[in-house]
Amino acid sequence: SLPLRRPQSYCRNSGISFMSVRTIAPTRGLKGEVTIPGDKSISHRSIMLGSIALGTTEITHFLDGADCLSTIDCFRKMGVEIERKPSSILVHGKGLRGLTAPASTLNVGNSGTTTRLISGILSGQNFATTLSGDDSLNSRPMKRIMTPLNTMGAHIRSLNDNGCAPLHIRPGALHGIHYQSPVASAQVKSAVLLAGLYADSPTSVTEPALSRNHTELMLQGFGAYVATDLHTDGTATAHVEPCKELYGQQICVPGDISSAAYFIAAALLVPGSELLVKNVGTNFTRAGFLKVCKAMGADIETVSQTIEGGESRADLLVRYSHLKGTVIEGDIIPTLIDEIPMIAIMAAFADGQTVIRDAAELKVKETNRIDTVTAGLKAMGAVITPTDDGMIIEGGAGLKGAKIQSFLDHRIAMAFSIAGLAAQGETTIQESQCVDVSYPSFFSTLGEIVE
Ligand code: S3P
Repeated sequence: SLPLRRPQSYCRNSGISFMSVRTIAPTRGLKGEVTIPGDKSISHRSIMLGSIALGTTEITHFLDGADCLSTIDCFRKMGVEIERKPSSILVHGKGLRGLTAPASTLNVGNSGTTTRLISGILSGQNFATTLSGDDSLNSRPMKRIMTPLNTMGAHIRSLNDNGCAPLHIRPGALHGIHYQSPVASAQVKSAVLLAGLYADSPTSVTEPALSRNHTELMLQGFGAYVATDLHTDGTATAHVEPCKELYGQQICVPGDISSAAYFIAAALLVPGSELLVKNVGTNFTRAGFLKVCKAMGADIETVSQTIEGGESRADLLVRYSHLKGTVIEGDIIPTLIDEIPMIAIMAAFADGQTVIRDAAELKVKETNRIDTVTAGLKAMGAVITPTDDGMIIEGGAGLKGAKIQSFLDHRIAMAFSIAGLAAQGETTIQESQCVDVSYPSFFSTLGEIVE
């Protein structure tokens, strides 16, 4: 098997320093087509479930981003053979209880998804582990998974006693619980459901609004019993039964709508653009961005649609559109949480005001994205007011090129690169290499479609 490319180091604590500045010039239009790389959330889950299933899981269109490589690295260190073929990845699963103790701390890099989901799995093993990541990861809140997993019977400790990684995970005999999650978070829900596979009775998680359901869909495909109730008040409950074994599957990962959002936005913002964005995952728990685009007056045509493994996907033809401001709030927020930096930039070009509320979760992403979006948009001359749970953007005046700090946040780097295409004058993105977290080919693809 070919070696997987080692995750690059973006970490402030890595001892490796590099500066990768990208200069973005305004463009006259985006033309042609772009095929979107695999979905990050689904790629992570395919490695995780493949590793704890019996038999071989074959994954095609896997996302070769640093976060997903961190997940691969963790499972290899627990004895799972993961082979790289030219157009697929083969995971030779060990069964639910077949992982082996890693020789050292598992390095989760920049990846919140790896950390939180793997904690659910590690809670059900028969060995203890320690997880640690980069400075950004080690400052993100982990109590949100420690609380339910410890209630189930695991013993997870924050080694610095600050509710963050490094985490020490000592498994225990797990009991099924009903967990009322205070946040709509697929990472929290998934951690509890994965631990629920190992419990002695059924487990369920109720969240204030439905978050992405990839874990539930994929668990069903691997043979677990999972069900979801959508309640009339907008809350949702996912249930999982204890499981004897999962069984390896073939998974074709759809394109990541969070990555597609940059190119969709670019085509909407730059006059003269017409771009076919191919293979976009359109699972309804992820597709809030498309709804917001429509509400803003976007011209987006679905030219074909398929469904595989419960995950829908579509090719979208996107044309330059005159956008108008909108209000984004409530249950739609979890379905577009990672696209908010891009939406805020679109709002700066749209006529009128855009209000984003109920999005306090932005504060605990790779950066505090209320702050980092505000900093970038202010640098580009926008009128933006950060609020406690979102932001208000006065649109219409467009943006001016500026020096943009990525703060090592991949989504900030990519969203502001698109802003630079539509702005007046030149934009530079500092430490742009962080796009490798979710979209290593972002800049080369961009180079192919700008006129
Ligand atoms: C993810 C869920 C979201 C999202 C993250 C990936 C996942 O986080 O922001 O990029 O794969 O489950 P939360 O579930 O914490 O909101």
